[in-house]
This record gives sequence, C-alpha cells and structure tokens, in this order.
Amino acid sequence: MQIAIDGPAAAGKTSLGRALADHFGCLFVETGKMYRAVALGLTRGISLDEIEITLDENGRIFLNGEDVTDLLHTPEMDQASSRVATLPEVRERLVALQRRIAAGHDVVMEGRDIGTVVLPNADVKIFLQASPQERARRRMQERDGLDYEETLQEIIARDARDSTRKVSPLNPAPDAIIIDTDQKSLTEVISEAIDLVKERLRKVDASAEGRM
Ligand code: C5P
Repeated sequence: MQIAIDGPAAAGKTSLGRALADHFGCLFVETGKMYRAVALGLTRGISLDEIEITLDENGRIFLNGEDVTDLLHTPEMDQASSRVATLPEVRERLVALQRRIAAGHDVVMEGRDIGTVVLPNADVKIFLQASPQERARRRMQERDGLDYEETLQEIIARDARDSTRKVSPLNPAPDAIIIDTDQKSLTEVISEAIDLVKERLRKVDASAEGRM
C-alpha cells in the first residue's frame, strides 16, 4: 500500500503521516528531510556530486555517513532547502531515491510532489491545506523562540518558491483528497484520514474481487 501526503510547509503532514504509518503498519518517509540534508551539504561546501544521502529504518538521515537529523529543522535550513528544491538535478536524484525506498515497502510518504511525481499510482493521495497564519502559529508551537511576523513571512516566501518553481511545483494531484485543516484539531484530521484510507482500501478490495 502506498499513501501520499502533500501540502505546503507546516500544514501538519508529518504529524498526520506518522499517525497513519503507525495505524496501518507502514514505513513513514519524510522527503523534506532529504532536501534539507542536501541543502546542509551544499552550505558546508560539499559539491552535489559528492553528496550521499541515506536513511535508516527509524527515519534518521545521514549526509555522507554523518547523522544530521537534528541539524535540519532550523529557519536557515527551511529557506535553504526550498531553494535547493528548485534545482532539477537535485529533484531527479531524490525522486529516484524515494521511489527505490517505496518499491520495497508499504509506505506513507510525505512531501510536495509525492502524489503528482514520486508515486503517481499511490492508493490514497491526501493534500493538506491551511492558511499561512495558522501554519505560522503551529510552527511557533513546535519551535522555541520564533517571532510570529518573521515566521509568517518565511512561510509565505517558501510557499511562493514551492508553487512557482518550474520542476514539480506544489499542486494537488487531480485525484487527491483535499483536507482543509484550519478549523480542525490534529485528532480530527487523523481520524478523517484513517476513514478515507479504509474506504479506499475497501474499494480496491471490492474491485479486485470483481475481477476474479
Ligand atoms: O517538508 P519540509 O518543510 O521539511 O521540506 C523542506 C523543503 O523541501 C520544502 O520547503 C520544499 O521546498 C522542499 N521539498 C520539495 N519536495 C518534497 C519535499 C520537500 O520540494 N517532496
């Protein structure tokens, strides 16, 4: 089974993805971490050709063998990763890595282009939406010491870059289910998504039986 979750920065994709992966017993893959790790490598002066990204089964991420998981979620890496994500050669390499990981597993994968590019045949595609203001408030709850106005402006800048880049701009897949999370708690979003996945799996089972 493949579940794709896409949406803009701080829309709640990671919390939802982890909950779905736990519930359905799937591997959970956060593709944003990969773009962040490449951005960290480039800011350290490593050339793209020399950058090797690997993950372990716990979701820890390694840059040329070094565990960099705890260095990736900073305002600097938020912006640097969204710049790096506009480069076609970076996307090509990371999409190939993401497809390799998904090929061997039942997977919940989250990012910006999972339902459109990485896993276009995913069984369920969810696109999470929320206003920039709500997303800025959520980001402030996750990280200490942030200023609201600055966080909001950074989210707006990242949205603009993610939606206007030439390769794989952020867009819901035509067959994605869009969930607007502005007025919903995380618990409500998770339970809505679990119901959606169950319903989709029932349909897949029913059509497989029809074919027998
Ligand atoms: O999801 P996260 O905020 O960690 O992603 C970091 C950046 O990586 C995003 O701002 C986006 O530009 C980029 N990204 C992407 N495609 C993905 C995942 C992330 O372009 N599948």
